Amino acid sequence: MSEDLNIVTGTKAEQYESLIPQIKALIEGEPDLIANLANVVGALKEQFGWLWVGFYLVKPSSTITPPVDEKELVLGPFQGPVACTRIKKGRGVCGTSWAKAETLIVPDVEKFPGHIACSSLSRSEIVIPIIRNHGVIGVLDVDSEQLNHFDEIDKIHLEKIVSLIEV
Ligand code: SME
Repeated sequence: MSEDLNIVTGTKAEQYESLIPQIKALIEGEPDLIANLANVVGALKEQFGWLWVGFYLVKPSSTITPPVDEKELVLGPFQGPVACTRIKKGRGVCGTSWAKAETLIVPDVEKFPGHIACSSLSRSEIVIPIIRNHGVIGVLDVDSEQLNHFDEIDKIHLEKIVSLIEV
């Protein structure tokens, strides 16, 4: 397919409904995970213009002392300001979404205990876990400069997008 994205106006649901088949076509048949995550992020950023959108992937901890099987979230493909590289399980919104294996919508990041402020501009956030056979393998994180930016419409559609990613 052409790599040009068709950007649409309309309601948020309409924007997602236009974008989802395009994302599907972009990543279908491509086995490289990083390439696919990069294109998903690029498509979301282009359509919605959020402050920050990106993936964190569950990878071995950088700690070389035991327990050697410890894992943490490591920054993956993203668009937006530079961000923290590693997040421990249960820490911040991302680490909590990983620990609970559920999507978290944070209307006001200042009211989320332990929120990790990668950018001082971020006011609200949504984090979607990528759940596969062996549990959570990563998260999709989106940040907005506006308070209360994310709702059930984002949750439903972003969960759908995350489900399209083959790992
Ligand atoms: N705010 C996130 C950290 C990642 S950045 O927003 C890109 C958190 O609390 O987990």
